[in-house]
Amino acid sequence: MNSRISGFYRLPVEERLSIIAEQCNLSNEEKDILYGATAFPMSTADAMIENVVGIIPIPVGIATNFKINGKDTFIPMATEEPSVVAAASNAARIAYNKGGFFTSLSGSIMRGQIQVVDVKDPHAAKIRIYEKKSEILEKCNAQDPTLVSFGGGAKDIEVNVIETATQTMLILNLFVDTKDAMGANAVNTMAEAIAPMVESITYGRVILRIISNLADRRLARARAVFSAEGLGGKDVVRDIVNAYEFADTDPYRAATHNKGIMNGISAVVLATGNDTRAVEAGAHAYATTTGRYRSLTKYEINEDGDLVGSIELPMAVGIIGGATKTHPVARIGLKILNINTAEELAGCIAATGLAQNLAGLRALATEGIQRGHMTLHARNLAVMAGAAGDEIDQVVSQAVKEKDFRYDRILELTKQLQRGVVSGS
Ligand code: MEV
Repeated sequence: MNSRISGFYRLPVEERLSIIAEQCNLSNEEKDILYGATAFPMSTADAMIENVVGIIPIPVGIATNFKINGKDTFIPMATEEPSVVAAASNAARIAYNKGGFFTSLSGSIMRGQIQVVDVKDPHAAKIRIYEKKSEILEKCNAQDPTLVSFGGGAKDIEVNVIETATQTMLILNLFVDTKDAMGANAVNTMAEAIAPMVESITYGRVILRIISNLADRRLARARAVFSAEGLGGKDVVRDIVNAYEFADTDPYRAATHNKGIMNGISAVVLATGNDTRAVEAGAHAYATTTGRYRSLTKYEINEDGDLVGSIELPMAVGIIGGATKTHPVARIGLKILNINTAEELAGCIAATGLAQNLAGLRALATEGIQRGHMTLHARNLAVMAGAAGDEIDQVVSQAVKEKDFRYDRILELTKQLQRGVVSGS
């Protein structure tokens, strides 16, 4: 498998699909599903959510040039935003010759929370809960023997007494190793199952029983070296670090900086049928853990003058259960990634987030993002205007030449071309 395919973006969709199908061993049936030739079954959609009346297709692109933990990897990305896939591929190309991305996961522990109110002696009740820890964990694990048989299950508890605006509450945090599952179902089932037991220990009233999306015991980490030469020189490296420091210090900038990271992360999370909102909530909450909303990435300059980027964020994603298995395209997304564990998936997602961020910072620190964006925007407008095949490139290159990306002008150019007035350039 070789993720470096030069000119991939210039190939027709069908050729790109053939290359990916060949390298990732996709069957003809899987190719048809990905291509949309096999319609997404309405019965599947109807079983996924309520009140179904239709489906909304989102393009799936493949980011190329990724090497992750020594393995060339194609990254499936589902996104409606132009430039995202190209930007991730460009950043990955710069990292490739320096070894690509290296990733790890801190664990696969998710946290469930059980809220107890009306406890007369919350501090003593906390201690009584700890005394019953084994029974609590046993009751939890009885809910999911399959998870336990794979080495997962409820592992520990932590009880906190918190002071809210009007009262004292007890919060029982339950730590569950969810292994290859995202884990929401397992954790929520366990949290609900132990609620009566918790009420009888505390003589209080349990209200909420729910997973926390601040999955700080499931942190995905990735790092990569981006050569100064590949980035455009030492001045670019310096200004990327300046851009990073701006984000790390000013929350207004950090929000946009982290949004750029999530452009990559959410696209892979979606393409693999995982919960984009869970990962987004975890990421933004984690960005505030020092008391200020900060950058999820860090950048340093190594002794060779190259840029070293790193990222760390909660990554509650799975490869079993939910849409990862029921959504036919998500299954293909996982196959394209060629991974066997949720840990590997989390690493690929973190690496994509880092690549996405680096690409954004590089563009912002140099020519700005609008040139690339407008070219892609012009493509969309040309398609909207009715351009097809080669006409699209001709209309876009004329619009770029004229630096005029208004829809009126693109429509005019398309019509002229179709009437044979513009010969193209
Ligand atoms: C646009 O979707 C994302 C960027 O604004 C991210 C950033 O500013 O770093 C380019």
